[in-house]
Amino acid sequence: MKMISKTKILPIVAAMVWLSGCGQKSQSPESANYSAERGEKLAQAKCSRCHNTAMPPVTSETEKAPPLYTVTVHLKDWMKVSDPSQKREKFIAFVQDYVIHPSRKKSYCDPASLKTYGVMPSQKGKVTQQELGDIAAFMYDTYDQMAMLQAVKEQQRLAKLPPYRQVLETHDCLLCHGGGKLAPSFAQIGKRYGMQGIKRIEEAILKGSKGRWPKYHTPMRAYKDLSEKQLEDLARWIAQGANE
Ligand code: HEC
Ligand code: HEC
Repeated sequence: MKMISKTKILPIVAAMVWLSGCGQKSQSPESANYSAERGEKLAQAKCSRCHNTAMPPVTSETEKAPPLYTVTVHLKDWMKVSDPSQKREKFIAFVQDYVIHPSRKKSYCDPASLKTYGVMPSQKGKVTQQELGDIAAFMYDTYDQMAMLQAVKEQQRLAKLPPYRQVLETHDCLLCHGGGKLAPSFAQIGKRYGMQGIKRIEEAILKGSKGRWPKYHTPMRAYKDLSEKQLEDLARWIAQGANE
């Protein structure tokens, strides 16, 4: 999951300055079947070096480009089409064209931001039209203001929970440890180690574990994305018997 503590929520209004219009006619995309799911991975691999892909977006002083959320919402905003059913198609066509042939003239970026960031360098040779179709489909389907509000609400809800709960609600631990044949319950683990074994519990979460519970054969993978606070709180909660 995205670290709540590190995530700066963009003041939505402040983000909105980034746009002005200039005409761009769409080219008709071939009726390829674009996949937002593939697009998500591709955006990570090919665009996130410059465009932050989180939602809510994470911004920084040193960013090379506006976050993909901002790019998408503004493009969508600008693209007034008479027939709304054509909007997605038009959006995809714009992205497919712009990423290969970016230019000051085509950019919807306002002059001040364009000056700060510079025109996007062409990604010709680094990404195919099919891949761009997938990426654009992902952008279009993922980033919008309603989804953003939802994401912010969800982050606020999670932020109020105890750290161990945050982990349980955003990770798959209970699929195996929630009582069943796949793994010992957290209560059993707590009973074995107790507070004096809390370091071992932390280590197991951080590095994974196998062979300690011979009854269970699925190895337990490592979880490296928890904050220090979450890791400590979760280990303490397990060590103390995992009581709700
Ligand atoms: C080397 C940095 C860099 C990479 C990599 C990059 N971009 Fe950009 N992109 C920029 C910058 C800078 C801008 C803002 C200036 C502009 O509009 O050209 C931008 C703007 C855009 C825009 C907005 C154009 C507009 O007029 O509003 C789109 C769409 C876009 N990028 C898509 C992508 C996609 C998709 C990828 C991955 C395939 C990608 N970019 C990779 C730097 C990058
Ligand atoms: C795919 C199933 C699976 C998932 C998901 C999973 N575990 Fe485990 N976990 C196991 C199994 C199996 C073991 C027993 C491993 C062994 O024998 O050493 C285990 C062991 C452990 C142990 C005890 C290790 C030891 O040294 O005795 C802890 C603590 C633990 N898991 C915590 C977690 C936490 C926290 C999460 C979620 C962040 C999680 N697990 C997710 C399967 C899983």
